[in-house]
Amino acid sequence: MSASSAYESVYAAALESPERFWSDAAQRIHWDRPFDRVLDDDRAPLYRWFVGGRLNTCFNALDRHVEAGRGDQLALIWDSPLAGAKLTLTYAELTERVARFAGALAAQGVERGDRVLIYMPMVPETAIAMLACARLGAIHSVVFGGFASAELAKRIDDATPKLVVSASCGIEPTRVVEYKPLLDAGIAMSKHTPSRCIILQRPQAEATLVEGRDLEWDAALEGVEPHACVPVEATDPLYVLYTSGTTGEPKGVVRDNGGHAVALSWSLEHIYGVEPGDVFWSASDVGWVVGHSYIVYAPLILGATTVMYEGKPIGTPDPGAFWRVIEEYGVGVFFTAPTAFRAIRQQDPNGEHIARYDLSKFEALFLAGERCDPDTLEWARAKLGVDVIDHWWQTETGWPMVANCLGIEKLPVKPGSSARPVPGWRVEVVDDVGAPVPANTVGNIVVRLPLPPGALPTLWNADERFERAYLSRFDGYYQTADAGYLDEDGYLFVMSRTDDVINVAGHRLSTGAIEEVLAEVPDVAECAVIGVADALKGQRPLALLVLDANATRTDDEVGDDCKQRVRDRIGAIASLSHALVVKRLPKTRSGKILRRTMRSIADGEAYDLPATIDDAAILDEIAAALEKKRR
Ligand code: COA
Ligand code: AMP
Repeated sequence: MSASSAYESVYAAALESPERFWSDAAQRIHWDRPFDRVLDDDRAPLYRWFVGGRLNTCFNALDRHVEAGRGDQLALIWDSPLAGAKLTLTYAELTERVARFAGALAAQGVERGDRVLIYMPMVPETAIAMLACARLGAIHSVVFGGFASAELAKRIDDATPKLVVSASCGIEPTRVVEYKPLLDAGIAMSKHTPSRCIILQRPQAEATLVEGRDLEWDAALEGVEPHACVPVEATDPLYVLYTSGTTGEPKGVVRDNGGHAVALSWSLEHIYGVEPGDVFWSASDVGWVVGHSYIVYAPLILGATTVMYEGKPIGTPDPGAFWRVIEEYGVGVFFTAPTAFRAIRQQDPNGEHIARYDLSKFEALFLAGERCDPDTLEWARAKLGVDVIDHWWQTETGWPMVANCLGIEKLPVKPGSSARPVPGWRVEVVDDVGAPVPANTVGNIVVRLPLPPGALPTLWNADERFERAYLSRFDGYYQTADAGYLDEDGYLFVMSRTDDVINVAGHRLSTGAIEEVLAEVPDVAECAVIGVADALKGQRPLALLVLDANATRTDDEVGDDCKQRVRDRIGAIASLSHALVVKRLPKTRSGKILRRTMRSIADGEAYDLPATIDDAAILDEIAAALEKKRR
């Protein structure tokens, strides 16, 4: 690669003068008051971007495009094969709806800095509610609709929302998921009680309202005036998004207004190669960071058209669902998770459904959320004939850290690698004591501080936890908790997590949270949950259970109870592949459970017997039990 490549010169510019680089990028954003410091490092290792600046994220995402004469351009296309419905909203229409819903929130007492919890399916009202919060300077916290009551309760207690916005139901291919009973149970479990819930009634299920607390969406809008944008500090939080950590307590990732707007606008142009007016589609869920960044905020801030899809890659109605949407709306750039492609490939190995559609406007497919196996990448590339780009990031970072930046220059693709660090991100690989490792050596993937704009400045109400979880292990670095290596060309290969987080069908889950649920099941004395390889979902959680000596139920009865409780408390997305009863858990002499060894056994990989193991025979017993289950 020549030293003068476009990518390398942009990367060097961000490295040499981050303040100039990001100050230039910030010119694409409308500021109500200019910032007086680009980067504030007074409280390092806690950094703040664009200090002194005031802006409104909703104004940048909507009103300014209308004011610039683009009110008739489509802002949002909603397509729901599950509801059998579609809707398009121009920038003018979306602005009007958001302003009115902001008025409704304000009428219920929501003010700048208040939290609003949003527990919603993939409907336009979810984006409207998020943007309405941004308009008021209120802080939204969206909870993925697939999470059940206990997870909801944890988030209610941490975010202490004044108000909740929810819907009567979500729709899955096999069933209507009633949200309202889950919400009511979540509020009953939590210590904090929101004073008001606004409920969108969907025709598929009517929710029963709680008198005095709940208000229907339409009723909330009656007689309210549209609300103007409230300018906030660049450093004020825009949202809190909870993500799984090592323990059962989710981490409240904070996103600020200023850095977020600047970084997302820059990233959509320079990484994804999208321009204002283009149609961009991210087939994720608004409950995840991908949905926040690339369904709602980035496309709208840039002035593109975003597609919001309430459906699945397969079964709604067939594995051609994605190609139908791409053809129908003229999508140019599309983003999804590798697991969706594995599901499509399983059902349509020869790409016959792809051939049924006109994909002439389709230029690039971006994949992230989990490791992309080279086989899936090659299949997608061969069948679609477009650029297939693996890129790597996390809820915490808000936007990609490593990618092939199509908007700058397309670099050669190396399957298995998400390519090279994005300008602004100083990605390195270090050993367990923080020393750099040579090329092609697996180690801890870290990012040198300060992180660029848009990355998390802290955790909600938990600066100390933020420093402990991310900044304390490697001095001067952010710890990603991913392991991998950089090759001789500076390409990153992400291999696995270094903590107890697992990735199931692109959904990030904590084994600790699942263990917490299992520990409460009667007859269970001890348990360990590990993520085991799965051909479709990447990983699936497997539980190993040790029963009480006086357990009265059979192994299968306890196992089934465990599976049901995980679905009821965390959600169906965390469904256990197996709940296996064993005599004891393999541990080191100091009592540490040998999770990595068990994972290798479950995946049929070779493993070294740890020298400190307490009782090696148990590993053979577990291997035999797993083998029996597999058959
Ligand atoms: N609300 C309620 N339940 C939900 C849900 C939601 N938003 N999302 C998933 N579920 C349920 C499903 O109905 C399913 O329930 P079941 O076990 O009773 O059938 C369970 O959770 C597991 O769902 P999922 O992991 O999605 O598996 P699946 O077999 O239904 O579908 C795929 C497999 C690959 C098609 C699907 O996982 C998929 O589309 N993945 C892409 C994910 C993605 O885009 N992630 C974005 C992160 S970047
Ligand atoms: P989330 O916070 O849900 O986006 O999950 C982030 C985690 O998913 C990362 O820390 C990785 O473990 C994994 N991940 C995301 N994208 C990739 C990728 N392109 N390759 C490998 N792992 C990935």
